[in-house]
Amino acid sequence: RQVALPRNKNLPPVVFHYIPWFGSAAYYGEDPYKFFFECREKYGDLFTFILMGRRVTVALGPKGNNLSLGGKTSQVSAEDAYTHLTTPVFGKGVVYDCPNEMLMQQKKFIKSGLTTEALQSYPPLIRDECQEYFANTLGINPSRPSSKKVDLLHAMAELIILTASRTLQGKEVRESLNGSFAKLFEDLDGGFTPLNFMFPNLPLPSYKRRDVAQKAMSDFYMKIIENRRKGETDHEHDMIASLQGCKYRNGVPLTDRDISHIMIALLMAGQHTSSATSSWALLHLADSPELYESLYQEQRTKFGNPDGTFRDLTYEDIKECKLLDATIRETLRMHAPIHSIYRKVMSDIPVPPSLSAPSEQASYVIPKGHYIMAAPGVSQMDPLIWQDSKVFTPTRWLDEAGVAAAAVEQYSKSEQVDYGFGAVSKGTESPYQPFGAGRHRCVGEQFAYTQLSTIITYIVRNYTMKLEVPEFPKTNYRTMIVQPMNPLVSFTLRKQEV
Ligand code: HEM
Repeated sequence: RQVALPRNKNLPPVVFHYIPWFGSAAYYGEDPYKFFFECREKYGDLFTFILMGRRVTVALGPKGNNLSLGGKTSQVSAEDAYTHLTTPVFGKGVVYDCPNEMLMQQKKFIKSGLTTEALQSYPPLIRDECQEYFANTLGINPSRPSSKKVDLLHAMAELIILTASRTLQGKEVRESLNGSFAKLFEDLDGGFTPLNFMFPNLPLPSYKRRDVAQKAMSDFYMKIIENRRKGETDHEHDMIASLQGCKYRNGVPLTDRDISHIMIALLMAGQHTSSATSSWALLHLADSPELYESLYQEQRTKFGNPDGTFRDLTYEDIKECKLLDATIRETLRMHAPIHSIYRKVMSDIPVPPSLSAPSEQASYVIPKGHYIMAAPGVSQMDPLIWQDSKVFTPTRWLDEAGVAAAAVEQYSKSEQVDYGFGAVSKGTESPYQPFGAGRHRCVGEQFAYTQLSTIITYIVRNYTMKLEVPEFPKTNYRTMIVQPMNPLVSFTLRKQEV
């Protein structure tokens, strides 16, 4: 392929493509990382590609991440990039269907619902759900002590929604999971796909089902709030309870509708990200009996009772499980659930010379109207940054002096910023950003770690695992979230159920 030089030489190079409007859609869509790494070889860290009529400028590496995720609101906008996808699913008035300044306050409200006290109450509830799911739904229990072959992604999707609803979403949601809610979720989720992102308004049945489900789910949350207000249900220390009574800085309270839509947004934000992450982590564990045994020994040494049982895992205990923590971190390094983070360019962005292609003297400008894309997964798997970048090595996170870990530390601590919920590390120039960075950084990280750690601990303590496919599952990039293909494993109950 040859480089097509833009007429205006201050614009980034355009990725060569044959079909004008379609551009590099197939090349990018099939395997975005292959596309990014190959383009980086040819064009450097900054290049533009055509994606079904859109001009998308990719900025790679820590500096590229910073350009996009650390950009000023006058230059980059998430709401202009995402609202056509998210508003029909979450509903109006929240997240990207409001000015950024309001989203920042909504994130502060969400943060205030995820207190240490709330997080401390979650591990026992998550454990109960795991126990019930493995023993009854999957049917692996002492009365039938055989192995069971399971589609891991399917199982984790069920377990994540069960545990998220038992904890964050509230007991009414958990109770109705066996009924109408599951179908509503399925229909809503069917409207949160790359097709919806590329084509917001197609006359397809799935779009109609999405709209019907959005209305019904929003009404469902409204009813919960109404019933709680009437005192018909017990008050719960969950996210709904926390959001009730929150007020914007100008004194305007969140309406019940706003709360309903925030709850839908949280449900969608945490579901596939966490189910994919737990699936990938467990696949690596099934693939590496040695690592699995080390995790088991970590549990035995720290929490094992002399009779072979374990004491219940607490929120504080999770922080003690260093190898478990490293396993999740490493999973997110190699399988960042979100491979592309988009922003709409609102005003021309001058590119620092350090990001320009080595042969170019002039600095580039990313013009208004383009999209700018960050792909933190590229720096997370860059062989120039990480030793044996393609090898799953949790222990790299335990080596304080390790080059990569040191670089991450240095970058993450570089800048403190306060968006209204206390100073946080902006970390926009970090090579490790599975939870994003800057003003749109994830607020669910601690919840996700608590949920993932408790689920994996439950499995490690109680089951052995085996991969049931001839080779390690490949990646499916055709969904919004990076998922494993055909992730079959078998679970076998350890001798003693605890
Ligand atoms: C934002 C990843 C779990 C709620 C983000 C972003 C990423 C991310 C990369 C930044 C998106 C952007 O800049 O456009 C993840 C991963 C998760 C996870 C890897 C699990 C392993 C969760 C959970 C929740 C959640 C469990 C809710 C409880 C949010 C919210 C935002 C966000 C509210 C803010 C969106 C914005 O400001 O634009 N997440 N997330 N996430 N996430 Fe998560």
